[in-house]
Order: sequence, then C-alpha cells, then structure tokens
Amino acid sequence: MNAEGRGRLDHMPQWQALARHREELGEVRLRDLFADDPGRAERYGVRVGDLYLDYSKNLVTDETLRLLGELAGATGVAELRDAMFRGERINTTENRAVLHTALRAPREAVIEVDGEDVVPAVHAVLDRMAVFAQAVRSGRWVGHTGRRVRNVVNIGIGGSDLGPAMAFEALRAYTDRELEVRFVSNVDGADLHEALQGLDPAETLFVVASKTFTTIETITNATSAKNWLLAGLGAGKEAVAKHFVALSTNAEAVGEFGIDTSNMFEFWDWVGGRYSYDSAIGLSLMIAIGPDRFREMLDGFRTVDTHFRTAPPGENAPLLLGLLGIWYGAFFDAQSHAVLPYSHYLSKFPAYLQQLDMESNGKSVDRQGRPVSWQTGPVVWGTPGTNGQHAYFQLLHQGTRLVPADLIGFARPVPGLSPELAAQHDLLMANLFAQGQALAFGKAQEEVRAEGVPEEQVPHRTFRGNRPTTTILADELTPSVLGQLVALYEHKVFVQGAVWDIDSFDQWGVELGKVLAKRVEPALTGGAEPAGLDASTAALVARYRALRGR
Ligand code: F6P
Repeated sequence: MNAEGRGRLDHMPQWQALARHREELGEVRLRDLFADDPGRAERYGVRVGDLYLDYSKNLVTDETLRLLGELAGATGVAELRDAMFRGERINTTENRAVLHTALRAPREAVIEVDGEDVVPAVHAVLDRMAVFAQAVRSGRWVGHTGRRVRNVVNIGIGGSDLGPAMAFEALRAYTDRELEVRFVSNVDGADLHEALQGLDPAETLFVVASKTFTTIETITNATSAKNWLLAGLGAGKEAVAKHFVALSTNAEAVGEFGIDTSNMFEFWDWVGGRYSYDSAIGLSLMIAIGPDRFREMLDGFRTVDTHFRTAPPGENAPLLLGLLGIWYGAFFDAQSHAVLPYSHYLSKFPAYLQQLDMESNGKSVDRQGRPVSWQTGPVVWGTPGTNGQHAYFQLLHQGTRLVPADLIGFARPVPGLSPELAAQHDLLMANLFAQGQALAFGKAQEEVRAEGVPEEQVPHRTFRGNRPTTTILADELTPSVLGQLVALYEHKVFVQGAVWDIDSFDQWGVELGKVLAKRVEPALTGGAEPAGLDASTAALVARYRALRGR
C-alpha cells in the first residue's frame, strides 16, 4: 500500500505485529542477545560514506528489524522519499516541494519544480557566494572607509542561525583564524551587545540571514546593528551596502530594509529553514572555511543522499536510525533521545538537531489533520562528552526512564592540536566506548557483591544496563564528514515523519507564540492591556509594568 492509500498507523497489521512482538520479547536483555549471537556486533553494523554505525547495543532482534522493515514498506517510506527527491510537493500544508537535497546536487543533475530545473540556480548562487567569500577572505572586499573586513557577524535565528553556528563551531579547525566570526540570534539585546564587543564598525560585515526576512528577532537585531554601524562610522545610509549582505528568499523585504539586493544571496521556498545551512544561509560559514571546504561539505551531504536513495533497507543507515527511534517511542515509552558527541567541536550539534527533529516531527495530527494516537517526535537533547558524564549520566545509568542515545566519536582529533593535547584523544574515546558498554551491560548484583560491597549498598551500586545506544564512528571530523552526519539525521527525521504520517516540513506550532508576543508587547511599554488576556498573564503583565514603573 502506498503512502496515499495507507490506513491509520496503529490499525496497520505491521504495527500490530510489532506490538505483539514487543510483548513476546518481554524483558529482553542485551547481555543475552550478545551471548546468544557471537556475530551480533559485526552483523548489526552499517557503513555510510565515512561513517560506521554500530547499532548492536539496541534492544532489537532480527525479528524486530524484519518487522520494522515491513512497517517502513507498508507506510510508503521509499515512495515518499522518491517523491521528495523528485521535487513533488510533499509539504502538503504549505503546498511546497521539499528539496534541500537539490542544494547539494551535482551541476549536471536535473531536478524540476513545476517543470523548471532548479539545479542551475543552486549552482549560480553557490558560485556567487564563492566569489564573495573569496573577496572577503582575501581582503578585496572593503568597507565604507576602505578597510578590509576582519569581523563577520551573522544575524539570524532558528535555521538561519543554528546550522551555520553549529557548522562554524564544528569546523573551527578549518576556519581562517584571522577572521572573527560571531553569531547573534536572540532578541535579548544582550546577545548583540556582547557580539559587538571589541569590534570596529569599519572592519565589520553583517550577514543578515532570514528566509522570510520578516522574523522579528532578526529584523530588530539587524536594525540595531545598522544603527551601531552608521553611528560608529559617522556615515549615512550609503555605508550599508559595504557592510550588510542578506541571505533570503524575500528580495522585496531585503530592499525595504535598505540592503542592496545585489548583495543578496537567494534561496527558495522549497528549502525549509532547518534544512537550509547548505544553501545561501551558509555564507558566514563559507567565508570562515572557504568555498573549497564548503563544497567538500556538500559532497558529504550528497554521499548520504545517494546512500539513502539507493542502499537496500537492511543497510540503509537513516532508515535504521529512524526505525529504531520509532520502536523505542512506541513500544518502550521512550520520551527523549540523547545525542552525545564525543567531540568538543560538535558542542552545538545537539541544539542544531533539536530544531531539525523537534520542529519537524513535534506534531500531533496526521497528514489528513486527524489526531494521532501514537508517539511522534521525541525530546532531543545532549551535550558533548565527557562533560555530560559528570552531570546527567547518573540518570541515564540508574534513572527510571529509558533514554536511547547516539554516541558520536572520531578515531582522530582534528588537525592542529599540540601533540600533548592530541594525545588526550584516546582518553576521550575510551570514555565513549566505556559509556556504551556500561549503559548496555551494566553491572549485575553478583558482580557488585563479588567486590565485597556491603549488602545494604548493593542495590545502589548495581547497574541494570540494557540502556540502548547507537555508536557512530568516523575517522575524523572533516567538512565532508560533518555534511554526512547532518544528512544522516535529516533523513532519519524524514523516515520517522513518513512512518508517523505527519508533515515534517511545516512548523505551524511556532506561530501562536509569535502572534501573542506582538499583541502583548504594547502593554509592556505602557500601552493598553490587550483584550482577552487571561488572568494569570494579565497579573504578570501588571507586575512587570509596576516593576518597570510604567
Ligand atoms: O519560528 C520558526 C522559524 O520559522 C524557523 O522554522 C526558521 O528557521 C526560523 O523561524 C527563522 O526564520 P527566518 O529564516 O525566516 O528568519
């Protein structure tokens, strides 16, 4: 049955078969699964590009995987995937194609939206970005007073911030250290205030990133930045052209803001904000790492796109990751999913994935608008190892909740560390491997007793284990590997949305708060209280006004 004709997920025989299978499995023990199958570690591993995924420490058997595969088949994941790659309007609530994969398509590819090939435009923008990035990096692009750019401040929020900020952090080792690159997102003035510290306006370029160019945080910050620039230079509006560029789909609003549209790098409505950092939204990153490294990153994305499209189901990494998450959410009541990168450079990766996953799959009606009666997207969270181990890992090991986790690590440290610091890498990775082991196999009561632990302490020092992890291992965190990792998660999210029968590409859930904030704001600054304010919020607004003496 294809996606169009499918029934309700929980009425499907494949779903019900999984529910029965879960009951039959009962208290499945990873210790037993490994003991019964010496080949498990080898068999439950899959390679995609430079990534190796070990999913053997998951609470699954061959039968579980077979049934999950049948579910994927019955829910039309492959058909929807092909429709996405073909440029069909699979974002039905916004009537849009979903073509972030076109952003990394090779020049010779042909991908049509409404009969028009979008690939030439993608490469035209990439080429313009490369010319501009090189001009900034080489010092050929000069500001209003003729000085070269030494500071780049990216102003954007959500997908227009998290992606480039995460990737800049991840690829710091590849950045031009002469350039200061900063990211501003929060409408809290403190964010811009701190970002501007120590910067000389004559040497500062603002990259205003906003798909819609109407996002209040970004426009407010960009306006303040413009005022700071013009005051600092003692110049008129003519200075803006040399210090502001825009990344957007909305040329009209860019022009109205006062940015010369010849300094605008465009993208298209078929690129979702959270899927956009490999579009023009990546300009700050491209300036930092250079066009060649940026293209290597795109190649990495493409490697996983091709894998997702062509690898058989049993070896298809995004499909497997997606199905594992569905299994835990539906049949183990897992509420969250931890992403634990053992790389300090990936410190912003969990935050990036929060938007990617939670904005995509935090939905509770199906594509037809009917309430779902199954779990959809999990709460995604995490921080880099080993820091988390000294904070919340206690709960992961001995808490009452099951938290499936991804452990991400690299065989080598990034280039540039001193020999002494590079040598710390083994200790870092020893921790990753140890955590996966401890979470999976725990420490049985008998083992604790055998160590002579007093009987009253035995329960406290016992680890039940059986906490599932998937380990993702690569040689090194290069631009290409980063692209591969991001595409892996993009497609994982896709798979889950497809099975859950939700539209993963809209984000109506963020609208209500925006509208209410607009309505409340005048009351905070002394205007009339908006009609229809609930008693709690009205009292809070009154208290705020009193505190501010308004
Ligand atoms: O509020 C949610 C959102 O629309 C995200 O989806 C998006 O990434 C972010 O706001 C920023 O939007 P824009 O790039 O249009 O400023």
